Amino acid sequence: MDTILVTGALGQIGSELVPTLRTRYEDVEVVASDIEPDPDVSGPYEAVDVTDRAQLEAIIEEYDVDTVFHLAALLSAAGEQNPDRAFNVNVGGLHNVLEVGREYKLDRIVVPSSIAVYGPATPDNPSERTIRSPTTMYGITKVLAENLGAYYHKKYNLDVRGIRLPGIVSHKTRPNGGTTDYAVDAFYEAVWEGEYTYFIREDTRLPMVYMSDAIDALITLAEAEESDLQYQCEYNISALSFTAKELSKRIEERVDEFQARYEPDERQSIADSWPSTLDDTAARSDWGWSAEYDLDKMVDEMVHSLRQRAERALS
Ligand code: SER
Repeated sequence: MDTILVTGALGQIGSELVPTLRTRYEDVEVVASDIEPDPDVSGPYEAVDVTDRAQLEAIIEEYDVDTVFHLAALLSAAGEQNPDRAFNVNVGGLHNVLEVGREYKLDRIVVPSSIAVYGPATPDNPSERTIRSPTTMYGITKVLAENLGAYYHKKYNLDVRGIRLPGIVSHKTRPNGGTTDYAVDAFYEAVWEGEYTYFIREDTRLPMVYMSDAIDALITLAEAEESDLQYQCEYNISALSFTAKELSKRIEERVDEFQARYEPDERQSIADSWPSTLDDTAARSDWGWSAEYDLDKMVDEMVHSLRQRAERALS
């Protein structure tokens, strides 16, 4: 591995993955890319619209990229606002990455999938081969992504891998356009405003993971021996599973005045269509996955980090 390209680098995951990769692989060039022309970021950055194959190809060629972390995508709620764009970015963008990957014989492409591949017909605690019957455009694009990953692997021997990520909780970059965003928004609003109105019911339970565990999972999977892997982009990981009310209670224990309200909107039906826990036996046995953060450890770190940031901003 000499040069890594990260697409969607300005997003929730990318903004933490890029610095982690740069620290971990000192001799590897990590090129960040996203659609924004001129963001205020350190290190090599290139504006790339992943739906434009020529732009992607130019960067892969210029930097002699051998590994791609392809994060550029629209999430579930944004996808329901604009299904056409979600399809173009999530499927067209990935297709371009895979085609360029095939042409330039890239060593490895890491493509996150999502719990959104599951749907109302999926029983709880599904494994990788349990029925995927998504009812959102986002979920449909991720099923296609998983299938394309398996296809390019089989047909062209391209090394494509990925994880079905649950909601990710983090404090560096706020997520945007996802259904699980409430699990991040609640912390920001609790620390800054002392109150938060969830857009889902209090009994909504979804699988989640803390960012450092999610990054660790992506890197561990990327480094795994190909011969140890039985799946391409379909690995489930399981870390946390809590209701909105359980989350509020943990936040209240640390932010005395916190007031939570619940006013479900159209995102409730998306949340209701997803499983609340996942069977991650394959990730554990194939590449040694396990989460470090439990709910209390995560809530401690979220509240502490956001408080520090608020204090810095106000001083
Ligand atoms: N966080 C994503 C979403 O809510 C799920 O993968 O859309």
